[in-house]
Amino acid sequence: MNPFEKSQMRKKSRKLAPIAALALLLTIPLYLSFIGDSSSRQTFPSHDSTTAPCPPAAELQQCDLFSGEWVPNPDGPYYTNETCDAIQEHQNCMKFGRPDTGYLKWRWKPDACELPLFEPDRFLELMRGKSLAFVGDSVARNHMQSLICLLSKVAHPVEWSDPSGKQIWYQYKEHEFNISIFWTPFLVKTGILDPSLGCPFDLYLDEFDDTWSNQIANFHYVIISAGSWFFRPSYFHLHHHLHGCLYCPVPDSNITHLTPAFAYRRAFQTAFRAINSVAGYNGVTFVRTFAPSHFEGGAWDQGGNCLRTRPFMRNETALEESALEFYTIQVEELRIARTLNGGRRFVLFDTTKPMLLRPDGHPSIYGHLPGVKLVMPNDCVHWCLPGPIDAWSDFLQELLRREIGDK
Ligand SMILES: *[C@@H]1O[C@H](CO)[C@@H](O)[C@H](O)[C@H]1NC(C)=O
Ligand SMILES: *[C@@H]1O[C@H](CO)[C@@H](O)[C@H](O)[C@H]1NC(C)=O
Ligand SMILES: *[C@@H]1O[C@H](CO)[C@@H](O)[C@H](O)[C@H]1NC(C)=O
Ligand SMILES: *[C@@H]1O[C@H](CO)[C@@H](O)[C@H](O)[C@H]1NC(C)=O
Repeated sequence: MNPFEKSQMRKKSRKLAPIAALALLLTIPLYLSFIGDSSSRQTFPSHDSTTAPCPPAAELQQCDLFSGEWVPNPDGPYYTNETCDAIQEHQNCMKFGRPDTGYLKWRWKPDACELPLFEPDRFLELMRGKSLAFVGDSVARNHMQSLICLLSKVAHPVEWSDPSGKQIWYQYKEHEFNISIFWTPFLVKTGILDPSLGCPFDLYLDEFDDTWSNQIANFHYVIISAGSWFFRPSYFHLHHHLHGCLYCPVPDSNITHLTPAFAYRRAFQTAFRAINSVAGYNGVTFVRTFAPSHFEGGAWDQGGNCLRTRPFMRNETALEESALEFYTIQVEELRIARTLNGGRRFVLFDTTKPMLLRPDGHPSIYGHLPGVKLVMPNDCVHWCLPGPIDAWSDFLQELLRREIGDK
C-alpha cells in the first residue's frame, strides 16, 4: 500500500468509522510485515561462512513480536509499590488504592512465537559494558521506571541528575551498565518549557535539541519516543521563521493554522537527522511508537475516564484517527531514516498495537489522593506501575537479544 492509498483510506475512515477504522487497523500488520523488522532482519551467509550449513527458515524469518494478544499470566506482577522505590507518585496505583488486581495478570503473546518474560540477571548480562538512553517525555520516564523496578529484584542503581533536571543518570556499577533519560517532549529545540509561564510552546521544528543530540554519542542504545505534547498549543518555526501554529492563541492573526501531525512528522525527521549526523554515535536506535490513551465518555479535560478492568481482544477496538496518524508518521519516518546516507541502525519498537488493547492499565483516579485537583483528573495516558508497561521490558530484552545475536 503506498502513502497515497493510505491517505485515501484515512479519509474514508473518517466517514465510515468505526468499521473502516477497524479494517484499517487490520491492515497494519500486513503493512508492517513489508517495512517492519522482519524483512530487514533477514540475514544471508557472509563470505567467510560459505561452508556453514544454511540456518533453518524459521531463523531467517523472525517472528513479528508485536502482532498478538494479551493472555493470562497468574504469576504477575514481578514487583510491588513496596519492593520498588522508583515508582513516580502519579503511577503508584497500588498506593492510591486501586482496588482491582486483574490488570497485573497478563503477558503479551505474539501470534507466531513466545515472548520470553523479562529476566533481570539475563538483561544485565546482555547489557554489561553498555549504556542505554531514553529520549522523550513522561511516558518514556514511565517505561524507564518500569525497567528499573523490574531490575530492582537483583540490582539498584546510583542516581544523579544535571542541575536543570533535563538529564538523569542511573549507574549499575557492578554490572557496568548505565541508563540515562533526557527530558525532551518535543524532541526538537523548544522555547519555554515551563507550563507555569503559560502556553504556547515555541517549537523550532528543524533544529536539534542539543541537550540530547550532543550526548547520544555516549550511548550504545537509544529509545526515542514522543506523544501527546504535540496536541498542546504551539508556535511552529521553520528556517528561523514563524511558520504556523496549533490552537493559535491570537485568533485573527495571519499565522497559518497547522495540525499536530505537521509538527510530529517534522520533529521526527529532525530527531532522526540528528541521530544520523551526530559524530561518534554508532548505536542502535529503537523507535518506540505512540502508546494510545483510553479516555471514554469524554475528552481528557471533559470528564473522560478509563475504568475497564481487563484487556480488549483485538477485534474489540481500533486506533483513533489521531493515534493512527502519529503511528503512521513514526513508521514512515523510521523507514526513510534507515535509507539516508550514512544511516544508523533504526529498529521499530512497536508498542502501539499491544497498548491499544490495554484500556485497563492506566492510573485513572488512582494516581493521586482523592480530592486533589489536577489538570488531568483521570490519567488515561500513563501506565500504572506495576502494570502493562512492564511488558515493554520483555520486548526490549528480546529486541536487544536479536541485535546482539544472543540465543
Ligand atoms: C503500597 O500500597 C499500599 C496499599 O496497597 C499502601 O498501604 C502502602 O502505603 C504503599 N506503600 C508505598 C511505599 O507506597
Ligand atoms: C557509566 O557511567 C560512568 C560515569 O559517567 C562512566 O564512567 C562509565 O564509563 C559508564 N559506563 C558505560 C558502560 O557506559
Ligand atoms: C496580516 O497581514 C496583512 C498583509 O500582510 C497586514 O496588513 C496585517 O497587518 C497583518 N495582520 C496582523 C494581525 O499581523
Ligand atoms: C472477538 O473474537 C472472539 C473470538 O476470537 C469472539 O468470541 C467475540 O465475539 C468477538 N468480538 C467481537 C466484538 O467481534
